[in-house]
Formats: sequence, C-alpha cells, structure tokens
Amino acid sequence: MQVIHKIADLRALLSAQSDICLVPTMGNLHAGHLSLVKLARARHACVVASVFVNPLQFAPHEDFATYPRTLDQDCQVLTSGGCDVVFAPSAQEMYPQAQAYTVAPPAALAETLEGAFRPGFFTGVCTVVLKLFNIVAPRAAVFGKKDYQQLLVVENMVREFNLPIDIIRAETVRTADGLALSSRNGYLNEDEQRQATQLSATLRRVAEGLRAGHRDWAELEHAATESLRLGGWRPDYIAIRRQTDLGAPAPDSALVVLGAAKLGPTRLIDNLEL
Ligand code: PAJ
Repeated sequence: MQVIHKIADLRALLSAQSDICLVPTMGNLHAGHLSLVKLARARHACVVASVFVNPLQFAPHEDFATYPRTLDQDCQVLTSGGCDVVFAPSAQEMYPQAQAYTVAPPAALAETLEGAFRPGFFTGVCTVVLKLFNIVAPRAAVFGKKDYQQLLVVENMVREFNLPIDIIRAETVRTADGLALSSRNGYLNEDEQRQATQLSATLRRVAEGLRAGHRDWAELEHAATESLRLGGWRPDYIAIRRQTDLGAPAPDSALVVLGAAKLGPTRLIDNLEL
C-alpha cells in the first residue's frame, strides 16, 4: 500500500488505473470504515482511501482542532482491508487558497436535520467530496449509511452533476450492544460509553412503534426525545422521515428514523431504516 500526500503524485500513480473505487474518510479509522474498504476491495480493481480532516465542514465551535489524527494506525487498518493507495493530503494541498467556489446542496435536503444544527456542514462535505472525486477520478465511491443524510446528499450531487461515479451504500457497523461505531465515540468516558447505547435503543423503539402500526409520528418523536432527555442526553432531534429524500413521512413511503443527541460534550448521530 502506498501513502501519497500530493495531488500530482496521486494522479501520476493512478493514471493507468481505470477501475478505481474511492473511500473518503477523515481518518481515526474503525471497523465501520474498514467495512467500506472491504466492500470497495470486493468490487473494484484499485482501492483508494482518502484521509483528510476537512476544515470546511467544521463550524468554528466544533472539534476540528481536537479531531483525532492517527495516520499511522489508519494505514495499518487500511492495509488489513486490502487498500492499494492512501491519499492523505495536507490542508494546504487541498486548499492552497481559501476555497471560493463551493457546492451548496438544496435546502430541502441539506438544511434539515444535521443541516439545521450544523449550518454549512453539507456545503463543506459536498465541496471536499467533489474535489476528491476530481482528484482521484474514481469509477465508484463508498459511503456509509451511518451518515444517512450525507449519503443522500452525495447521491443527489452525483446525479445532478452527472458525475460518472457509482455510489455504493455500506451498512452501519455496530458494537454487539448496538452502538454505531464512530470516531467520536473515542471522546466518551466509560460511563458515557455504556449510556451511548441508549441512542440506538431509542431509535429501535421508535421503529418498533412504527412496525406496530403507530402513525402519530410527532408523538413517537416526542416520546423518544423525552426518554433520551431523561437518560441525561441533550437531544437535537429524533425524526421519522422518508428514506428517499428525508421529507415528511407519507402513507406507504419507506421510512428511516434519524437521531442526534449530545452526551456530555460529545454529539452522536445514528439512524435506522425500516
Ligand atoms: P468519516 O466520519 O471519517 O466517515 C467516512 C465514511 O465512513 C462515511 O461514508 C461514513 O458514513 C462511514 N462510516 C462511519 N462510521 C461508520 C459505521 N459505523 N458503519 C459504516 N460506515 C461508517 O463522513 C466523513 O468522514 C466525511 O464527512 C467525508 C465524507 C470523508 C468528507 O469529509
């Protein structure tokens, strides 16, 4: 596996490759990321993983400065997953001057849920993902359902800009007790780690309610939010939405339950498709 820091070097290395699959990440890799790499490995001749903590998608009060940067460990994980090339650029390499052109996704998709609590987040994500797509020129790219809204936004961007890239959806990898793996789980202390399983348990209860025929979405969302609050969380939202576009649920639409909540200083997100 080769580790490349410069765009020109990466382009030279990949120039003869026609079947590249890209796995974009911010590093501090865990078994969730590894599953994406393995999916890419199973389907494509050349697997490129990017490791870049993208300043554009962090608000000033968020954890950009403290986000764990663990490239040596990440390379071990990537090697074990059969990755061919790691692209780990500096911020200077990705943004030699302030990025003046950005990709702003439509409000209906990107200013709800995560976008409502993290203004500008999806513009930061789309802008870096489009840059990575242009740098790597992959035939396919893998994104996790763990970040469900991000996955939809990227799929939507690919469609609207006619990018010749297949987006591969990867299932969320969880601990045995249901906690979705996340780099931010590393911020949790021992008590919080035990408590953190409540988020997925709450989403499961909402899903069970829906399966049992409850149709008062607002009541289900409210009850779930309050149970998290009682458990010591500060919930941002628990929301029942359509899988296709995160719009309000309609009869017969396939649904997804999404949640975001803070436990101490750590903000966690999760979701469950029905
Ligand atoms: P990051 O949080 O590092 O996640 C990289 C990819 O791993 C995303 O597609 C995410 O959905 C997936 N992932 C994270 N946890 C997962 C889990 N438990 N199971 C399955 N997949 C999981 O998402 C980002 O980075 C950035 O926004 C990025 C797309 C790289 C743009 O900067």
